Amino acid sequence: MNVKEEKTIARAADSVIIRMLEYNHEQVLFCNDKDTGLKAIIAIHNTVLGPALGGTRMWDYASEKDALEDVLRLSRGMTYKASAAGLNLGGGKAVIIGNPAQLKSEALLRRFGKFVNSLGGKYITAEDVAMNSKDMEYIHMETKHVTGLPELLGGGGDPSPVTAYGVYLSMKASAKECWGNDGLSGKKVAVQGTGHVGENLVRHLAKEGAKVWVTDINPDRSAKIAKETGAEVVAGDSFFDLNMDIYAPCALGATINSETIARLKCSIICGAANNQLADEKVHGESLGKKGIVYAPDFVVNAGGLINVYNELLGYNRERAMKQTESIYDTLSAIFRISKAERIPTFSAANRLAEQRIAAIGKVKLSHC
Ligand SMILES: NC(=O)c1ccc[n+]([C@@H]2O[C@H](COP(=O)([O-])OP(=O)(O)OC[C@H]3O[C@@H](n4cnc5c(N)ncnc54)[C@H](O)[C@@H]3O)[C@@H](O)[C@H]2O)c1
Repeated sequence: MNVKEEKTIARAADSVIIRMLEYNHEQVLFCNDKDTGLKAIIAIHNTVLGPALGGTRMWDYASEKDALEDVLRLSRGMTYKASAAGLNLGGGKAVIIGNPAQLKSEALLRRFGKFVNSLGGKYITAEDVAMNSKDMEYIHMETKHVTGLPELLGGGGDPSPVTAYGVYLSMKASAKECWGNDGLSGKKVAVQGTGHVGENLVRHLAKEGAKVWVTDINPDRSAKIAKETGAEVVAGDSFFDLNMDIYAPCALGATINSETIARLKCSIICGAANNQLADEKVHGESLGKKGIVYAPDFVVNAGGLINVYNELLGYNRERAMKQTESIYDTLSAIFRISKAERIPTFSAANRLAEQRIAAIGKVKLSHC
């Protein structure tokens, strides 16, 4: 049976399976518990490289369809992120449907932990939006397949410094690609979002002597890091018109769109935010045409995943930082593929991730 025939049968049977076929997911688990009010979906996209690791997000989705779409998209993204980072992990993600302020409880989280446990380690969870390390502790009471635990429980603590280090090294690799050397001294860098990752990134940049602009919708956050490092605060929309060398998106996704691309004067885009390109194909290609070096987000921000992966090995921050340094070489390889094959950098990153899965998949099939 070919994929087209399978899709026709699936369409007749169930739209969830059509969605799974489209993204090629291995397994989707729907979880329901009347007593605690738990409604959750766990999506396992691909386990060729290892167990599917990805955070649990709790969100008051407008519909179950939106929740399913989110978990399928996010879990697929984790497969690519883990593969490009060279980790022995597959891609997975979970969503708990509902307002965390009203619904989150110890019982609900522990019930969710039992569902995670029922997958026997094929899925490993972690923190994501509206989840914290205390929540992970509750989940951990019912399953060992959880990361993002507090340091006292053998976890890695806040992954943001590791993520920020990866972003900083990615910026250096991008500078090398763009200007022939990776020094950032004197370069004008505009950091959007000075939260956990952004503020640590600003510290690295200031230490190297970059000229840093910061902006944050929470003015206290940008003021604090500006005072500490000498960065300059820029408030409001004029941020995108700055005469910057590097734009570092460290707040939200989709900030690279037709409107901002028309305004941006930078040579490089490199930051921590997930899903930076509003439309991967359209905007990834327009950046290339405009001569802007785009460092693909899921490669740049893999430090957080490398950090939680280290919890599975017995946590050691020094080792996590060391492993994060490989992002520099991975990104340089992506730039080489992009140039050699005349494809945008995001396509080169996807290709690199897919090639590793295909190659290691064959190794795993061999019997000796
Ligand atoms: N924390 C990690 O280790 C990690 C790992 C991978 C990816 N990421 C991604 O990196 C980004 C930053 O993560 P974080 O942990 O620092 O989050 P955070 O919530 O600590 O910080 C985000 C900051 O952005 C600010 N912000 C939100 N909207 C803004 C806007 N429109 N303009 C300016 N500032 C705005 C917020 O006020 C906040 O200070 C997120 O997109 C996250 O998904 C984080």
